[in-house]
Amino acid sequence: MPNVISPFTENLADQTYSQPHQSQNQHRIRFLVDQYLGIEKLHQRLQDLPLQFQNPQQRPWKLIDWKAINLNQIIGINSEIFLSILVGAIDTEAPIRGYTQTSRQYLERLHPQMARFVGGTVGEDGNLLELGLWEKEERQHTPALLKVYSQLTGEKITPKLRTVRGYLPTNDPYQDLYRHGLHRVATEYGATCLYLWLMAHTTGELADVFEELAQDEINHMAKFWGFGVWAFPEISLVQIGRTLIKTRSQNYQRNNLIRTLRRMMGTLNWHSWSLNNKVTLLFTFTYVMHRLWSWNSTLTPKYLQDLFVIRNDARTSL
Ligand SMILES: [Fe+2]
Ligand SMILES: [Fe+2]
Repeated sequence: MPNVISPFTENLADQTYSQPHQSQNQHRIRFLVDQYLGIEKLHQRLQDLPLQFQNPQQRPWKLIDWKAINLNQIIGINSEIFLSILVGAIDTEAPIRGYTQTSRQYLERLHPQMARFVGGTVGEDGNLLELGLWEKEERQHTPALLKVYSQLTGEKITPKLRTVRGYLPTNDPYQDLYRHGLHRVATEYGATCLYLWLMAHTTGELADVFEELAQDEINHMAKFWGFGVWAFPEISLVQIGRTLIKTRSQNYQRNNLIRTLRRMMGTLNWHSWSLNNKVTLLFTFTYVMHRLWSWNSTLTPKYLQDLFVIRNDARTSL
């Protein structure tokens, strides 16, 4: 649909200049966060979860005119840097099967419905019988980014196959799930911020792709976050912080967020970004987190209980 201007393009505040100022970038990011991470939107994404347990339905993507994607649709990022960010995102997204099966194992005993949502169902012989909805939606991301890369460069690349830290249970499955879940929320949050930031720096069909990616990540982040608040109501902000940066734990190797962040920023070639790009990404992280905390304060025990009431029997096993 080459002649259709998407609503996104109409709203693009930066379309008349190719090198926006810091304040224009921040305005644009605020606009996108308000549009895609409004409190009501986040509630809708979370409220959708019990329905998805009963009848999993993949969120459809809008039609994207892939052939129309071109380098002129990048705004305010050096195209070499943009391409290296794309490669970093490709390497971070793959291999989704490893991620979903690890999460499924952490959830399986404690919350079978959530386990099915993330990783599907597995037969007695260990074979996957059905894909999880999270995997169905996430597995579109790497191919989409690869398509963007080859459209922009005329070259095909293959993702680096990283080894995923697998399922490493201790004798406390509840703690294991808490730690694992927190890192899942953190990675969905990181992806949300990155794709929103890329949306703010692109236009037209290129921005359409990041819009779809961002919406998927926001959807998953809201669901995992809400589930986490419901399943671990007693956990304080201080404990969360401690878990994320913990260095003394025996689980250090698999759970240190700082290490994960450093690796991710290395993959995204952060050291060669312009100051403007660095500042706007940090602004995006801060603004999105601010919005999530406002939303978080509306997640009362009563609200969550009403929302997840169909899983009361599963809850008792937590
Ligand atoms: Fe993703
Ligand atoms: Fe994700």
